[in-house]
Amino acid sequence: MITIGISSQKGGVGKTTVAVNLAYAFARMGRRVLIVDADPQGSVGLSLTRQTRKLKGFFDYLDSEDMSLDSIIVPTRMDTLSLVPAGQGSDYDMASGYQGGSAEGVCNFVNAAEEAGYDICLIDTAAGLFGVTKDVLVEVDAVLIPQQAEPLGVRSMPKMLEALRVIRKLNPNLHILGVVLTMVQRQLRESSDAVEGLRSILPDSLVMKAEIPRDDIFIKASARGVPVGVMQTGAGVLMEFEKLRNEIENKLEHS
Ligand SMILES: Nc1ncnc2c1ncn2[C@@H]1O[C@H](COP(=O)(O)OP(=O)(O)OP(=O)(O)O)[C@@H](O)[C@H]1O
Ligand SMILES: [Mg+2]
Repeated sequence: MITIGISSQKGGVGKTTVAVNLAYAFARMGRRVLIVDADPQGSVGLSLTRQTRKLKGFFDYLDSEDMSLDSIIVPTRMDTLSLVPAGQGSDYDMASGYQGGSAEGVCNFVNAAEEAGYDICLIDTAAGLFGVTKDVLVEVDAVLIPQQAEPLGVRSMPKMLEALRVIRKLNPNLHILGVVLTMVQRQLRESSDAVEGLRSILPDSLVMKAEIPRDDIFIKASARGVPVGVMQTGAGVLMEFEKLRNEIENKLEHS
């Protein structure tokens, strides 16, 4: 099993959107995919099903010594795609974050997913590189970093990569897949400049060639609780996620 964390320092850059649609792109190819919501806000669940708020999930698993992975897995309309919602986790406090240490729980979780026979485990994290997100990044094989195509966010990228290098000291095998640009508006100069700006300051190997366009279809899909690829007009956007999936597979193969 390959485990990929989807993380960023900034919030609202498209992590959950990328995680859900990338998971769909892998599942479409027949890969057995587990998408995990490691963000206590719990948006993955809402993006793929309707009633995951009250379900137990990842944070409950971290709290408990004897919870089975099976008991927190939620099937989707697609055979090859399952999800683990965020859940409630009594140790999680909105104001101060996670109370207990989570490193061991995250490690057990990943091992259980591997034993259950998944090919790909995608973990959508909360923004920032601390707390549970840090524990996730210490466990994963690879990390993908979504970044909104806007000038301020792009300028913060070298710092983000620096921070990941610190995490790499704890997880020397962590494969930094690179930055994927999201909400790209090629027709808007500022957005285009931000894209080119990022491509000029980072090595080619650290910026994915696929670019996720800004499109209203993402809001429509998430309101319906489905990946964009199943929407009638989603073919164009799905192609970009296919491209992203392909790039990731190539990078992992050659690592
Ligand atoms: N490519 C896109 N085109 C249009 N809207 C988008 C796109 N990607 C994301 N959005 C919208 O932007 C908002 C933030 O996206 P998303 O929730 O994926 O970001 P996030 O990084 O997971 O946020 P958080 O840090 O809060 O978890 C959402 O309302 C989402 O629907
Ligand atoms: Mg999110």
